[in-house]
Amino acid sequence: MFKRLSLIIVVLAVSSAVFSAARQDKPSSAQAPPPARQIPGITTGDAFPRGCVDCHTNHPELKLDARISSLMKGWNERVEPALLAKAQATAPSGVTLKGKHPVAAFALKNIPTGCLTCHSKKSTLAPPFAQMLHMIHLTGGEKNHFLSVYQGECTHCHKLNPSTGLWSLPTAPEP
Ligand code: HEC
Ligand code: HEC
Ligand code: HEC
Repeated sequence: MFKRLSLIIVVLAVSSAVFSAARQDKPSSAQAPPPARQIPGITTGDAFPRGCVDCHTNHPELKLDARISSLMKGWNERVEPALLAKAQATAPSGVTLKGKHPVAAFALKNIPTGCLTCHSKKSTLAPPFAQMLHMIHLTGGEKNHFLSVYQGECTHCHKLNPSTGLWSLPTAPEP
């Protein structure tokens, strides 16, 4: 353990020495840092200001209806095994999910706040939303379209208020 740690320290020390040597060789113009990373809503525009409902839309040309209401209709009948596995991993302890979603039309009028009434941090029946949604959107690597198509950006869901520094989750009905 300690051996490995000291090896890491040596590697870091050597590489930082190499990097600083390389830096000194370059003319000063090469020292300019790269431009700021494009972070939606922070350093570049926000294509999904209302969060969930702005991204989960119908794409008839792709035969892909990603509206939350349409997904929910599906879960009322049957939940795909991959989704069920992620949800089960975040379910309150002792709860075995049935693989069928209760009818919850009221929640569709206010997404995700309506969902959070059942999926709260303290729920004893349903997976808490933070855990479940992070599992759904942020795990699985390249195969996950939220990571590969939308770059896994936190700020597609979490919005920063630049005047106060506070984060919030926008909530809205489906259009
Ligand atoms: C910028 C786009 C985007 C935003 C914003 C977004 N999602 Fe998603 N969501 C996706 C993508 C892409 C997937 C598919 C992930 C995959 O490939 O496994 C997904 C998957 C899901 C699934 C699983 C669907 C299934 O049938 O497997 C649920 C549930 C979900 N999102 C709910 C939400 C909720 C609720 C919010 C808001 C808190 C939200 N999403 C915000 C893009 C988004
Ligand atoms: C009336 C309470 C209630 C509301 C409101 C609710 N849920 Fe659920 N949700 C549950 C329960 C209970 C489960 C566990 C179902 C099971 O046993 O499979 C669940 C499970 C899920 C799952 C995992 C798949 C499944 O059905 O097991 C997803 C995804 C989900 N909810 C998304 C949502 C979204 C998105 C909203 C808001 C539009 C929402 N839920 C609103 C109670 C609710
Ligand atoms: C698909 C939407 C979505 C994305 C993307 C997302 N979050 Fe969240 N996050 C949520 C929701 C929903 C909650 C729960 C809010 C609540 O319970 O009131 C949450 C809550 C949190 C919390 C509060 C602590 C907790 O776990 O309850 C933290 C911290 C957090 N998110 C960090 C992140 C980070 C870091 C990223 C990017 C790597 C990220 N989130 C991306 C939807 C998202």
